[in-house]
Amino acid sequence: PVRYLQMDGVLYPPLPGYAAHLKQVQNFPCRSDDVWIFGYPKSGNHWMWEMVNMVLKHRSEFENDFMERYLVDFEDLSSPALSRDSRRVLVSHLPCQHAPLGVFEKGVKIIYVMRNPKDVAVSAYNHLASVTDDFRNLSFSDFLSLYMDGKVYYGDWYDHVFSWFARCRGSRNILVVKYEDMKRDLLTEVKRVAKFLDQPMDGDTADRIARACSFSCMKQGKREYSGKWRQDGLIHSVYRKGQVGDWVNWFSPEDNEQFDKRHEERMQQSGGVTVDFQLD
Ligand code: A3P
Repeated sequence: PVRYLQMDGVLYPPLPGYAAHLKQVQNFPCRSDDVWIFGYPKSGNHWMWEMVNMVLKHRSEFENDFMERYLVDFEDLSSPALSRDSRRVLVSHLPCQHAPLGVFEKGVKIIYVMRNPKDVAVSAYNHLASVTDDFRNLSFSDFLSLYMDGKVYYGDWYDHVFSWFARCRGSRNILVVKYEDMKRDLLTEVKRVAKFLDQPMDGDTADRIARACSFSCMKQGKREYSGKWRQDGLIHSVYRKGQVGDWVNWFSPEDNEQFDKRHEERMQQSGGVTVDFQLD
């Protein structure tokens, strides 16, 4: 059986001391000029982190660093990366109710990344099966049943999205960016992000950033730094396939039928939050 840590009804990895860490994260000192990226795991968080760093620096080079060092969910909160002086681009997969309180108190800019939950399931399965013993022996269908019940790390995808969309209402500090839109037209999304972050940007720079952030360039570019990365092997799952609609290669017709049925049920339970996305 898969083991979890439970906090207020949300499941997390059962790591030693993790409940205490999550409490500390809630009190993490935020700065008003921070940029925070929130997203359910496997929604394109690494992609967005690279892109935001490029936008802030007006250059199309990859960070000589890894997103994991800015992921407050797991990083030592007193690490030099997290407390550096320059403008910070921080990342978290936490649902809104567990996010650092400072992000709301300081009114920081938040980008919420979102991806088709079917593709997220496939990406999460591949990732978790490669890094976690508890998930390694599950078939995809078994994993999908857990995922549909919210019995995966960070809990139910719908709860996550609803928690953030409820916050988005009426907030000018939160920008939602969809993985599928980034795949369709990255240049437009680069410009949207630049505008949101108050970074006037000429078309040429935006174009160079969009090109650098293509899946193949990024996979190659980050691999060059991977020797310095403590989690070297993860490069394969962080940059696995990078496609929209890979779920068709994994879902059986029964899986898909069950998923769609559950989707309808869950969307009825959004608490009045409107979430606009497509499942196919
Ligand atoms: P796949 O497993 O479907 O390939 P996260 O960063 O939130 O962990 O998400 C990882 C997913 O984003 C992986 O999905 C990965 O391939 C995809 N991804 C990372 N960089 C990308 C890029 N530049 N373009 C498209 N997809 C990218």
